[in-house]
Amino acid sequence: MAARQTRDVNLALVIVKPHAFRQSYNMSMQILKPDDRIDLGVGQPDPALLPQSLFQSLSIPRQSLAYGQEAGAIDFRERLAQWLSADVRQTVQASDLLVTTGSSNALDMICSRLAKPGDTVLVEDPTYFIALNQLREHGLKVVAVPMDDRGLQPEALEQAIQQHAPAFIYTVPTYHNPTGITQPDERRRNLVAMAKRYACPLIADEVYQCLYFDQPPPPPLACYDRDAPVLSVGSFSKILAPGLRLGWIQASGDALQPLLNAALLKSGGGLAPVTSAIVGSLIETGAFQQYLQSLKQILKTRRDVLWQGLTTELGERWQINRPEGGYFIWASQRDGLSVADLREAAIHQGVSFLAGTKFSANNNFVSSMRVCFAWYDAVELEQACVRLGKVFADH
Ligand SMILES: Cc1ncc(COP(=O)(O)O)c(C=O)c1O
Repeated sequence: MAARQTRDVNLALVIVKPHAFRQSYNMSMQILKPDDRIDLGVGQPDPALLPQSLFQSLSIPRQSLAYGQEAGAIDFRERLAQWLSADVRQTVQASDLLVTTGSSNALDMICSRLAKPGDTVLVEDPTYFIALNQLREHGLKVVAVPMDDRGLQPEALEQAIQQHAPAFIYTVPTYHNPTGITQPDERRRNLVAMAKRYACPLIADEVYQCLYFDQPPPPPLACYDRDAPVLSVGSFSKILAPGLRLGWIQASGDALQPLLNAALLKSGGGLAPVTSAIVGSLIETGAFQQYLQSLKQILKTRRDVLWQGLTTELGERWQINRPEGGYFIWASQRDGLSVADLREAAIHQGVSFLAGTKFSANNNFVSSMRVCFAWYDAVELEQACVRLGKVFADH
């Protein structure tokens, strides 16, 4: 309450209008859509759905303009904890949260503080391709562990832990990027127990956790055992706006300590105090939760359109995963066709996707592709499916 009374700095964020987005493609500006094709490879929120109006007349407390607590502003962490507790149906404590400037920033800090160059880390095969790049940028050796239809295979994981003594394990447990798979409760228990048994930090990149379309997924991995070395990473990028560059790490016990001791936070104080004040007020008023609800409805419809379109156009020679949330559908050609080799042909037809090989540390998944249902509307997704149907019918 006191914080609200001291609000005296007005912010008017200027965001580009939706119609300005369809312009020539330029990778350095991630909000522009290509005009020569429907690019299902892009894994971002649709710029037209970014909630500009929520940001039009917000004010922030003066204290947000000062250096803040290492873990992030307590007002914000309390609001975040309250919303998370409701959304994941578990008690999340503000003291278990560390504010970051997004999931990528969290992974960067984790690489710096929990590993040193030359260490091995375990990832899923396949996994989020930019995480692979990030890990390698830190001089880490990446070992890929196979998945099944319930996520990381526990036997293979245990063997890899014994063989490589990794600095940490990186997993995307919910609506996995790229496969859309969600680890069920029992698999999660198993992974958390293994992390504890081997004292090996388990990093759960959970940026899609809150994007469930019907039933909520099992809780974040950090909710399972307060004594296990588990760090759950969340972000507002996919559920509000990526330009905010705002996220969090949830962990209990001493697990956050190496990060809190980082010179980065000692010098600069907590990350993103201004942005977290803005988002904190959207949580407090409920405007964020309302937006998230409507976003999930739209994404659910788009998931249905893309899944149905692919099923119709590609036919029975494809296995097409139907995720219960998130952004991505993973489709695999059953006869071993090199989908990767057909990307150029697809672009020629005015459509593109990301080839499965991009997500594999071992160059696996040559017959798979990841397509995103978040970036385009239903009409464009239908068109994209028809074009994909032509590409694969020709081959
Ligand atoms: C699994 C995963 N982690 C992290 C990110 C990036 O998140 P942020 O914008 O919070 O850095 C993405 C975005 O595609 C993602 O799919």
